[in-house]
Amino acid sequence: MAKSLRSQCIVTIAIHKIMISKDLFEAKKILDANGIIGFPTETVYGLAGNIFSEAALRNIFEVKKRPLYNPLIVHIKNKDQLELIAKEIPKKAIKLAEEFWPGPLTLVLKKKERVSDIISAGKDTVAVRIPNHPMALELLAMLDYPLAAPSANPFQSISPTCAQHVDNYFGKKLPLILDGGDCKRGLESTIVGFDDDQVIVYRLGAVSVESIESVVGEIAVLNENDENPDAPGMLKKHYCPQKKLILTNNIVETIHENLDKRIGILTLDSQYESNNILHSEVLSKDGNLITAAAILYAALHRLDEAPIDLIIAEQMPDIGIGRTMNDRLVKAANNGID
Ligand code: TXA
Ligand code: MG
Repeated sequence: MAKSLRSQCIVTIAIHKIMISKDLFEAKKILDANGIIGFPTETVYGLAGNIFSEAALRNIFEVKKRPLYNPLIVHIKNKDQLELIAKEIPKKAIKLAEEFWPGPLTLVLKKKERVSDIISAGKDTVAVRIPNHPMALELLAMLDYPLAAPSANPFQSISPTCAQHVDNYFGKKLPLILDGGDCKRGLESTIVGFDDDQVIVYRLGAVSVESIESVVGEIAVLNENDENPDAPGMLKKHYCPQKKLILTNNIVETIHENLDKRIGILTLDSQYESNNILHSEVLSKDGNLITAAAILYAALHRLDEAPIDLIIAEQMPDIGIGRTMNDRLVKAANNGID
């Protein structure tokens, strides 16, 4: 009995070890056969499948437990592949693609007929980008089709920024997670759409509003409190840790209000001391927002696993990428009332 239990363990460990790998040929084999895999991008890890395989697309929604009204982003290998899926591309979209691709900017464009309604959630648009990660680009170059990929996390939880995060979420449900190391940007892509000549940000992301405006002039940022059918993913509750999170601009006062709790702290560059602070995450000792953004989700994952009752997070400076970080922290703080 003991012996058979031991051998079962060895088998499990062996299967588990193969799952996280750098084997691009194995990845292609799985994708060609309508399977789905975890794959790295510079923003966050994705759950990827062939955009022309209905089985793969359905599997993505099923594994992620994502509602069908929330459409997927298509990842292409080069600008030529854009012709395959999008039409009537506005001039400003071309300008933005020239400036930011490959990179963390997703364009919402009119879709061609061949793009499945499952990807677009029945809308007449498709969201598309070229990811800027060597392994993702190498994989896409080996494939005859683009990859649909939402972030590889269960609906509304924190996005994964390393292969281990994906394994923690979906290990048993995926045949393979490609290991491309830690995501360099660490926040999802910025999503923009177009209304005639107006550029509209549907989701703040790794490209700042200021950088986009430097290319196309003034743009509009959608307020997530507005009900907007063009941006079905702008949910108030999103990017949530399991633990309660308070976002504050007065961290000392918030610590004092919660002296009866075991606290974890998330700050940009400051250290705080209190007997009840059991875990601290300082994102960037020199206050650099870009490096802080890159590790924000990894820090939230660690805080979620720490033996604490409450996460207290400090508001970031509301400029550049700090605005995106605040957007995610506000949503993380919306994880319900205890
Ligand atoms: O950085 C990223 O964008 C990552 C990596 C894997 O590329 N992907 C990602 O996907 O964050 P996901 O599915 O977690 O978020 C995509 C968002 C959703 O909120 C969805 O509503 C929105 O994109 N979206 C997709 N297609 C759209 C469309 N046609 N119109 C408006 N929004 C769209
Ligand atoms: Mg997501």
